[in-house]
Amino acid sequence: MSPFVIIIFGATGDLVQHKILPALFSLFRANQLGEKFYIIGFARREFSKVEFRRMLTEEWQIGNADKAAWKAFVKNIYYQQGFFEEISGYEQLINKLNSFDQEIGACITRLFYLATPPDFYLSIIKHLKKTKLSQGCGQGSEKWTKLAIEKPFGKNLATAREIDLKLSEVFEERQIYRVDHYLAKETVQNMIAFRFANGIFEPVWNKKYIDHVQITFAEKKGIGNRGKFFDGVGMLRDVAQNHLLQLLATITMEQPLSFTKESVRDARTNAIKSIRCIKPFEVSQFVVRGQYNGYLAEKHVARNSKTETFVAMKLFMEANRFEGVPFYLRAGKSLMADMVDIKIVFIQTCHLLFKEYGCPEIGNVLTIRIQPDEGIGLRVIAKKPSIAISKEGKPGLGLATVNMDFSYMKEFKERRIEAYEKLLLDILAGDQMLFNRSDELETSWQFISGILDGWEKDHKPLPEYDLGNWGPKEAFGLIERDGRKWL
Ligand code: BG6
Repeated sequence: MSPFVIIIFGATGDLVQHKILPALFSLFRANQLGEKFYIIGFARREFSKVEFRRMLTEEWQIGNADKAAWKAFVKNIYYQQGFFEEISGYEQLINKLNSFDQEIGACITRLFYLATPPDFYLSIIKHLKKTKLSQGCGQGSEKWTKLAIEKPFGKNLATAREIDLKLSEVFEERQIYRVDHYLAKETVQNMIAFRFANGIFEPVWNKKYIDHVQITFAEKKGIGNRGKFFDGVGMLRDVAQNHLLQLLATITMEQPLSFTKESVRDARTNAIKSIRCIKPFEVSQFVVRGQYNGYLAEKHVARNSKTETFVAMKLFMEANRFEGVPFYLRAGKSLMADMVDIKIVFIQTCHLLFKEYGCPEIGNVLTIRIQPDEGIGLRVIAKKPSIAISKEGKPGLGLATVNMDFSYMKEFKERRIEAYEKLLLDILAGDQMLFNRSDELETSWQFISGILDGWEKDHKPLPEYDLGNWGPKEAFGLIERDGRKWL
């Protein structure tokens, strides 16, 4: 790996502490960051370099075994105090970056990583342009600069478009990495191989065989200390617009023309484009939102907040392949379990042979476990052993469903790299396949905006749910009125 510097805006935030820095540290321990690299934290608080390093060390409470590695790692971390809306921090940054180039004796790759709340994106982009930081070292050598930007990318279609327009005035598409870390999860990456390398799934991957699909994103934890970020954003923007729609895209997309970044991104974008938009007046029929009891008492949450901590929706694809197949999606905080999975429920027909003995109500279900225990399970129907002869002297027969299972952990012994590690390596290597392209993002916002517009007109109080269950009762109604249930 050639020398590089990452400048992280919002360096004292939750995302950096819990995802980005741990990923960098883990890559460092696995010797994947190369000989020379620099990490600069850019944030509002006053810290010297030493204080910032100390703060990270205390925050992390590194275990004994990692202490030596941490000590070596932290030497590569620097700090730049600055307000995102004021130019002075950026100007000081120029000197720091130049001094790194001088130390190496060449222009090194500069990666600007925007991990602040989205309200600051426009300001940061403007100042990167104004100070010419966007151009990298030397005269306009923009090939040495990259920009990674976190979700949520805006608050609605209009703001997403605005950010994208401003970005495109400063950076070329090939320099921009719009992050959705779910695309880098192992099982999500595996979907292309699973669906198209195995000849047996494509023939049944359609309305003729699939009854419906369920996608669940459940977290036990509430919003914790993230009130400032989460309140006013909510589950629809935080998780549905990105992670849920991307999961949906990986299972509904057509086969990419080739395994190249543009073909894969074309296929994902087309899948999202083919989701039938939910019109604002249909929202109450197709979408349910909820808020966990106690949310209003969380830190940094408005006492009358109508931010949803749970969302469930039923949607359809306009693609011929899935015509009429309902997709039920749900995502929530403070639920019963930590679990993200996709369940493809196949049409259950009780074969004539077994009608008189009775068939299980639900037959074949393919479960793609994103986490925990990444893997894939297939429920199949099997004969129960030793069913006695009936009174009429007929052989007894009982059917049950059993699981055939593949677990990544059991099957592959190599070190599995976390999603953020994979993303960082890809950015540094210049591979954009697992990042959202501009049109892909726009399409997802178009879909989400219909729901937001519907909610704006809805003044009813939000349904509540108790901690540790599966969301408000309305979410059950959404699927049960179709004669189905959450699995
Ligand atoms: C983030 C959301 O993108 O994903 C969080 O902002 C959520 O609200 C998180 O908790 C979940 O990520 P993971 O990788 O822990 O499942």
